[in-house]
This record gives sequence, C-alpha cells and structure tokens, in this order.
Amino acid sequence: SRNIRLAVIPGDGIGTEVVAEGLKVLDAVGAKVEGTHYDLGAERYHRTGETLPDAVLDELRGYDAILLGAVGDPSVPPGVLERDLLLRLRFELDHYVNLRPVKLFPGVETPLGKARPEDIDMIVVREGTESLYAGAGGVLRRGTPHEVATQESLNTAFGVERVVRYAFDQALARPRKKLTLVHKTNVLTYAGDLWARTVDRVGLEYPDVRTDYCHIDAASMFFVNQPERFDVIVTDNLFGDIITDIGAAVAGGIGLAASGNVNPDRTAPSMFEPVHGSAPDIAGQGKADPTATILSVAMLLSHLGLADEAARVERAVADDLLERQAGRAARSTREIGDAITARVAG
Ligand code: NAD
Ligand code: IPM
Ligand code: MN
Repeated sequence: SRNIRLAVIPGDGIGTEVVAEGLKVLDAVGAKVEGTHYDLGAERYHRTGETLPDAVLDELRGYDAILLGAVGDPSVPPGVLERDLLLRLRFELDHYVNLRPVKLFPGVETPLGKARPEDIDMIVVREGTESLYAGAGGVLRRGTPHEVATQESLNTAFGVERVVRYAFDQALARPRKKLTLVHKTNVLTYAGDLWARTVDRVGLEYPDVRTDYCHIDAASMFFVNQPERFDVIVTDNLFGDIITDIGAAVAGGIGLAASGNVNPDRTAPSMFEPVHGSAPDIAGQGKADPTATILSVAMLLSHLGLADEAARVERAVADDLLERQAGRAARSTREIGDAITARVAG
C-alpha cells in the first residue's frame, strides 16, 4: 500500500513536545508515513506576520491527514492564532465533525470517586464549523462606557443536519444506541429550535436509536454526577468545547483527551489533535502528558482505515495507563512517549 502523506503542525508551547511523541508511536506501529512539518504558530507569526498563508492552506489540502499539537501563545493577542490558524483550518477543510471521545480507561483515577470505566464511555460529536465560532460580530464605541459588543451564533439547516446524521450513525453503531442532544433550547430559541427539530426529523430514520435531550447546564452537572447517562452526545460548537474539557477532567485529565476534526465526506484531509492547548504554564519543562496526542494518532490511523494499527496504539496506551496506577514516579513527556512506543513496537 502507498505511504500515508501526513502534514504535521506542532504549533506552540507543549504542542511541539507532545507531537514529537505522537510521531514516535506512529513510526513504531509500522504505518508507512511520509511526514512534512509546517512551522505555523507564534514564532512564524512574529517573524513574518503570517498565520496561515493561502498557499500553505492549499498545500495542506493535498495530504491524507494532519496531526496538530496546539496553537496559542501569551505573546500573541488572543484570537489571532486561534481564529486565523486553527479555526480557519477547521472551516476551510470542512471539519464539521469534531469527534471527542470521553472514556475512562481502567486503572485511571477519576475525581468522581466511584465511577467505573463502564460509567464513563461516551462520544461527544461537537459541531465544528458553525455557532458562535462562525457568526458575525462587531463592536461600537469601543473603550467607552457605552461600548456595545455583539457576537452572533450562525446555525444552518445544512450544517446542523449533517452533523446530526453523523451522530445518529455513531449511536447506531454502539451497543447502547442512545443519542443525547445537548443545547440550550430554553433560551437560545432560534438555534435550539433548529437543532431540536433536526434531531426529531432525522431520528425518524433511526428507529433503533433512542434520543434524549439535555440543557447544557444540566448536562455539565450530569457529566460529574451521572456520566452513565450519556452514550453519544451531539452538540453545538461552543457547548461542545466546554463540555469536553469537563469530560476530559472526569475521565482522568486533559492530558488524556483526544480529538479528531473530521471531514466525513473526505473532500479534504481530517485533522487530529489533543483537546488541550499549548499550556504555556508548563511548556518547555517536559511535564506535558503526550497521551492525548498519542490517542489522537490512534484516531488518525482509524480514520485512514488502519484499524489494526489503531487498536495496537490504543492497547499500548491502555496498558501504560494501568501501569501508571501501580504507583510509579511521575514521568516526563519523553518517558511516557518512550514507554508507549516500546509497547507498540514490542
Ligand atoms: P490548556 O489546555 O493549554 O491548559 C489548561 C491547563 O491544563 C494548564 O494548567 C495546563 O498546564 C494543563 N495541561 C494542558 N495540557 C496538558 C498536558 N498534555 N499534560 C499536562 N497538563 C496539561 O488551556 P489554556 O491554558 O486555557 O490555553 C492556553 C493556550 O492554548 C491559549 O492560547 C489557548 O487559546 C490555546 N488553546 C489551543 C487549543 C488548540 O490548539 N486546540 C486548545 C485549547 C487552548
Ligand atoms: C479546542 C480549543 C479551540 C476551540 C480554540 C483554541 C479555538 O479550545 O480545540 O477545544 O475553542 O475549539
Ligand atoms: Mn477547548
């Protein structure tokens, strides 16, 4: 089989540290990968003023997949790298599904005391191209006491339906076959109504899937005190952002949470990245946990049809997580990466 053409965007802060470990694992699993690095991020922005040049974006379209670390740096104004680099990639490559598993691995400590792995096993299907992330906005009289800031949420029938269909398919493929819409229909009456009607209508085509609804505030509570309620969740871009950090926390920490920005129609490459950011507070210290990135590599392999390789990576992570529980000393980014790499190779 031909080589996987992979674009690698390490990005900023711990992004570069965790991506290095992800690539080691990818190499060890024996997938034929031809990786090309792109130096997008804070350093390039300071040097050239560029975030994502059009020519680079066009080049990225030609890859089979993208592996990203994280972007964002305290030296760059908020939003520059987040919007013009990361969100632009998600929008331009039509990553309308932001797939975020929330799964407690055996042996991993959760702040929810008595929760067992079977209690925390869900997939959040976060919409990736619309909502407040994509709406218009503006400011009037900035800096005055009469400043007015607006930020609109954009929701289209087309955009909502395609992600809802994807979520139904995910639910149908799982044993519990349950899909929960998470929104705020009691206040966001226009957008919420579109989402609720879409779930009802598409649901008619999925009689075997049980549907359920939960407001985002209550869902945030249930993530903590009744996570077993959830199987597959479908939700808006912003709610999905917030709830998957809660999900990461209850499933053992943000250092374990993986994600895929998926273009299910395969009209452009999908992009895999940890849920976490560039963590300036620990960057450069070798303290970042690379596990989230390594699990994102497993999602990448699975997306490219390499199911056996994906399973091997996941198993290696699961085994490593079990061993951490055995009271070993805290390990560095590289030590964790090396340990998982050795299991994958062995
Ligand atoms: P963050 O996820 O970077 O960090 C939050 C906390 O989690 C920090 O205390 C950090 O040390 C810790 N943490 C994160 N990843 C970890 C890991 N792998 N191992 C151990 N600890 C880890 O979120 P933030 O501090 O809100 O944001 C920092 C920057 O990252 C901002 O510029 C933000 O915009 C950006 N960001 C980028 C992405 C992305 O690229 N997808 C995601 C989130 C935030
Ligand atoms: C994430 C991040 C991004 C988001 C930011 C950095 C744009 O928080 O991937 O979860 O809000 O989607
Ligand atoms: Mn986030």
